[in-house]
Amino acid sequence: MTNKELFLEAKRAMENAYTPFSHFNVGAALLTEDGKVYTGCNVENSTLGATVCAERTASVKAVSEGSRDFKKIAVVCHAGEVTPCGICRQFLYEFGPSMTVVFGPDEDNLKELNIKELLPLGFRLENDKHTIGE
Ligand code: THU
Repeated sequence: MTNKELFLEAKRAMENAYTPFSHFNVGAALLTEDGKVYTGCNVENSTLGATVCAERTASVKAVSEGSRDFKKIAVVCHAGEVTPCGICRQFLYEFGPSMTVVFGPDEDNLKELNIKELLPLGFRLENDKHTIGE
């Protein structure tokens, strides 16, 4: 699966975005270490605070289907480019401390960053101990 193919999957998922409040449509496609792809879109809510971002939609789908090792996620929005919000960076880091994030304005102009570049000193609890940025 190339970055371009993953990004195109994210674009397809973006079509299902439920955004009556922000009208800001986002799609994500998550590639796990077992070679599976889980897609997601943002799902807003009348309470606003209950809104779920596209990246977390895809992440929860993966984990609930048994894929816990994240390799790469592509993220797209309807206008310009987007990178995961702070909450999503932390959420992704839990299952992919070495994963990368693919983003860009379109499938022919993609960039790729490691999650650690987007979330320096990320927090993790493991075996009753916490790590910072390891
Ligand atoms: N959003 C995402 O889905 N992912 C991001 O990386 C940035 C923000 C959504 C949340 C909300 O539905 C809308 O974009 C505006 O914040």
